[in-house]
Amino acid sequence: LRNGLAATPPMGWNSWNQVGCDGLNEQVVRDAADTLVSTGMRDAGYRYVVVDDCWQDYTRAPDGSLRPNPARFPHGMAALAEYVHQRGLLFGIYAVPGSGTCAMYNSGYPATGIGSLGHERQDAQTFEAWGVDFLKYDWCYADTHDGLDEQAAFAKMRDELQRLARPILYSISEYGAQRPWLWGRAIANMWRTTNDLTPDWSSITDTIEQQAAVTTGSPGAWNDPDMLQVGDGSLTVDEERAHFSIWAILNAPLFSGTKPSASALSTLLNHEVIAVDQDFGGSQGRRLAVTATTDVWGKPLSDGGYALVLLNRGGTPANISAQVGGHWSVRDLWQHKDTGTSDGTVGANVPPHAAVMLRLSPR
Ligand code: GLA
Repeated sequence: LRNGLAATPPMGWNSWNQVGCDGLNEQVVRDAADTLVSTGMRDAGYRYVVVDDCWQDYTRAPDGSLRPNPARFPHGMAALAEYVHQRGLLFGIYAVPGSGTCAMYNSGYPATGIGSLGHERQDAQTFEAWGVDFLKYDWCYADTHDGLDEQAAFAKMRDELQRLARPILYSISEYGAQRPWLWGRAIANMWRTTNDLTPDWSSITDTIEQQAAVTTGSPGAWNDPDMLQVGDGSLTVDEERAHFSIWAILNAPLFSGTKPSASALSTLLNHEVIAVDQDFGGSQGRRLAVTATTDVWGKPLSDGGYALVLLNRGGTPANISAQVGGHWSVRDLWQHKDTGTSDGTVGANVPPHAAVMLRLSPR
């Protein structure tokens, strides 16, 4: 969407992967903002603090406006946005085009009528008044429950956001159902390409597999293979780094959803990998080669170089190589080391459930 936002893939924190529905409250969000600052994540680019589903009161106010759940957000959303803004961060919120949010249908959140259907203008204005900078607009069965047409429903909220004085990054989600990479760029700044990512290796590799069919994003309009699970579940450090490497080569939005441990931080703060994510060299990463257990992904960089991910999905070590032509200096972005030169082929022995990420510079 050409609204001047998301020139590079958006980065931040989102509550959902950390606390889901039941654990959401204003203290969790304030702590997340403080953590982004104290860990250096804000300065590494993680700027948006997004409150996902289950922030809403169970009903709308008498004037029809949305209001926060008073037990969870006793100080209200404007105060929370201000807290976030005071820390040099941006504030995001969650809404849906139909009548019910996903947590109403999936997690038993006991609300009614809090979807934006029929309240699009009012909700956009409420968000603007609160100081919202980012809207996640999540499909949540608005076809089956409400008979809505996807593109029309997402475009309707786009139009309401564009009437506002305040720039609001527009993130839509229909889980890749109608191939939004083919139509999303006229409507949104980012769109989900797949179902919810869960913190286990098979979900990560299934999601990666699905990205092979997705055409490239571009500045202002990014494919979103869902938020990071780095630091969540029982992912190993190698698995987390493989996940982060592929998201970076895809120019994916990077939204953390963890109270980061030292090892999660060492992944989330890899500046060299983040630099690849934020560098659109004309195309997002695409899969160059695939076997039963390995993938090679590559993408051009704007300095004339090239980024590569050698991914071992399998349970035993694998020698993975890629034909790259040309003459390059090679740097390993997880070892932070220059590893030599290449005149045509690069390769590595990659541990199980792991990836090697390389940056090739012209020589
Ligand atoms: C859907 C979305 C998730 C999250 C939940 C909230 O599952 O895909 O990212 O927003 O809804 O209920």
